[in-house]
Amino acid sequence: MSEQFIVEVASEHHFHFAEQICAEMESSAKARGTGIAKRSPDYIKQKMLEGKAVVAYTKQGEWGGFCYIESWSHDKYVANSGLIVSPSLRKSGLAKMIKQKIFNLSRTRYPDAKIFGLTTGLAVMKINSDLGYEPVTYSELTQDDEFWKGCQSCVNYEILMSKERKNCLCTAMLYDPAEKKQENKKSFFDFAKNSKILERLMQIKQVAFLGLGKEKKEKESVEADKKPMSNG
Ligand SMILES: CC(C)(COP(=O)(O)OP(=O)(O)OC[C@H]1O[C@@H](n2cnc3c(N)ncnc32)[C@H](O)[C@@H]1OP(=O)(O)O)[C@@H](O)C(=O)NCCC(=O)NCCS
Repeated sequence: MSEQFIVEVASEHHFHFAEQICAEMESSAKARGTGIAKRSPDYIKQKMLEGKAVVAYTKQGEWGGFCYIESWSHDKYVANSGLIVSPSLRKSGLAKMIKQKIFNLSRTRYPDAKIFGLTTGLAVMKINSDLGYEPVTYSELTQDDEFWKGCQSCVNYEILMSKERKNCLCTAMLYDPAEKKQENKKSFFDFAKNSKILERLMQIKQVAFLGLGKEKKEKESVEADKKPMSNG
């Protein structure tokens, strides 16, 4: 599958993809119900110009995917943000290729930085685990206000703030190069063994933070009231 895509560090030669990338980010965010991530075509172009982005496209020139680097706390932390794959090309391993490329680029440009991400997507958690990220608490992420301001466009921002930025719907994952050097192994975290726990944790957060499940229980109890009692 990989031979049908070109995955490379973006430059001004890819400016013509910027509008489409933004439009897809916006419609995907709406579809997921996560609010609109505010990234303008100019911001995308700036990242391309700085050599801090990875773009994927088919041999025929059709846009396939994108991701970019942001750095925080005086370059002590790096996030690989805005991962997006064209809907028609999903589930063919493209996100995995893009994330590998942007991860390598991040390690080259910021060799000492901790690389982190916040996500509700199991596919992204799987890719991150394969790269050596491990789930962490929010306190282990950058405390740079500028990073957290980026969450303002998310529908769950109020929840994040009510928890004093210590928790929210997203799972935090981090790659710590210093720790990896010490441990001299790729990762402790086995996604295959733990994916059910991560999935359950997300369900618990949804019930606790959004009250989902309460509605379902209420509906079930109304339905039960309608049913004749078996001993009555
Ligand atoms: C999330 C997204 C980037 C995934 O792109 P993709 O190209 O379809 O992903 P891939 O095909 O590379 O799949 C990556 C891995 O995740 C796995 N995966 C996919 N969905 C999964 C799920 N629900 N649970 C567990 N693993 C999953 C795949 O099997 C694959 O693992 P493998 O290599 O071991 O087979 C894409 O769906 C997208 O653009 N979504 C909208 C934007 C978004 O959600 N971005 C992420 C913001 S954090």
